[in-house]
Amino acid sequence: MEVKDSCCIVSSSETTSKDYWDANFNKLETPNWIERNTPWIMPWIDLINLPKDAKIFCAGVGDSNLVESLLTKGFYNIVANDISEVALNKLRIKHAGSEVIFLQDDLINPSKIQSLHGEIDLYIDRATLHFFTTCKEKEAYFSQMEKLLKLDGYSILGVFNKDNVAKCCGLELQLWSRDSLQNRMPTYDHLKAAEVAFTEINGNVRNYIYQLSQKKNYK
Ligand SMILES: C[S@@+](CC[C@H](N)C(=O)[O-])C[C@H]1O[C@@H](n2cnc3c(N)ncnc32)[C@H](O)[C@@H]1O
Repeated sequence: MEVKDSCCIVSSSETTSKDYWDANFNKLETPNWIERNTPWIMPWIDLINLPKDAKIFCAGVGDSNLVESLLTKGFYNIVANDISEVALNKLRIKHAGSEVIFLQDDLINPSKIQSLHGEIDLYIDRATLHFFTTCKEKEAYFSQMEKLLKLDGYSILGVFNKDNVAKCCGLELQLWSRDSLQNRMPTYDHLKAAEVAFTEINGNVRNYIYQLSQKKNYK
C-alpha cells in the first residue's frame, strides 16, 4: 500500500495535544479529513428516531458540518466538544445564535466533560478515537463515553479500519476492526457496522469502519 502521510496539515511530535490541533485549525487550508457533503452517518441518526430534544455529544467535532446537519434535522440540545479552542471558535461563528454548547476539553484528561455524565442520548465521534493509541488512553476514552451515555443511549463511532497506514502526519494511529471495537464495548448492543471508503480532498482514500451501538447494563 502506498504511504501518503498527509491527512493533517501540521507535522508535530506532540500527539493529541491542544497546541497540535490548534495549529492544524489555524492553517487556512481545509483539512483533508473534512466530509464536504452531509455526514455519512445521518441515515443512522434517522433510523434510531430520537426525539428532537435528545442531548447529543459530538466528540472531537473539529469544524465539521456535523453540528450543522444535526441542527438542520431539528436537534438543538447539542454539545460540540473538541480539544482545540480554534476549531470550536470556527463552529461558534458558524452557529452563532444557536443553543449549541461549545465544550473545549480533552476527552482523555477531562476537566469539564464529567458534568455531563448520565445525560447523553447520542454520542458521535468520527476520526478522533483512532488518535488514542495507548491502553491508558483507550480505557479512558471508552470509560468516559460509557459514563456520558444514559442507559439505552446510542454511540456512533467512525474510525480508520485495518486497511490503512497506521500513521497520520507523524501521529501514530490505532486501526480498528468490527471485532476490536466490539471487544472494547461489552456492555452495548451493536446494531450496525459498515466499512466506508472516504476520499480526502488530497485524493488519498481512507477506509473507515462505522459502528452504531446502544448502551445496555450487561455486566
Ligand atoms: C481528524 S480530526 C476529525 C474532526 C471531525 N470529527 C471530522 O470528522 O471532521 C480529529 C479531531 O479530534 C480532536 N481531538 C484530538 N484529540 C482530542 C482530545 N484528546 N479530546 C478532544 N478532541 C480531540 C482534534 O482537535 C480534531 O478536531
